[in-house]
Amino acid sequence: MLKMMSRFLLAILLLSSLGCEVERRKTDAELGLNLQQIAGRRVYDNLCDQCHAPYSTRGRQGPPMKGVFKKPYLSISGLPANEERVGEIIRYGRAKMKGYGQNLSDQQMQDLLVYMHTL
Ligand code: HEC
Repeated sequence: MLKMMSRFLLAILLLSSLGCEVERRKTDAELGLNLQQIAGRRVYDNLCDQCHAPYSTRGRQGPPMKGVFKKPYLSISGLPANEERVGEIIRYGRAKMKGYGQNLSDQQMQDLLVYMHTL
């Protein structure tokens, strides 16, 4: 009985510490995204999220994209944070990032940029 109880407690402890590590993913509705922004979020999830955190300032393999268009310059390259420059980076890539020009239709690129404005 005591053994069962302690296992139970351990499980609770483990779960609650996990809860602090991994923040719950917000739904599209909670973020108040419109249809185009939702389409852009899908693109971001598939191609960018693994290396760029959208909603935290913690770096992954690449810098976080949180607030990417809210500041005048990009944090690493120092390039102007506008659609033209960011679009080029996505199309042609950077030193440690491949380009996605071949993977994205014009529509997907537009959706992605529109979504990134919400970050
Ligand atoms: C495999 C990891 C990886 C993926 C996937 C990836 N990137 Fe990157 N990205 C990086 C790294 C690393 C850098 C910074 C180093 C560099 O500039 O080479 C970077 C740089 C950038 C920059 C410039 C940041 C700055 O401050 O200059 C932008 C913007 C960017 N990525 C957006 C995206 C978007 C949007 C996607 C999805 C279409 C994406 N990246 C996919 C790794 C990645």
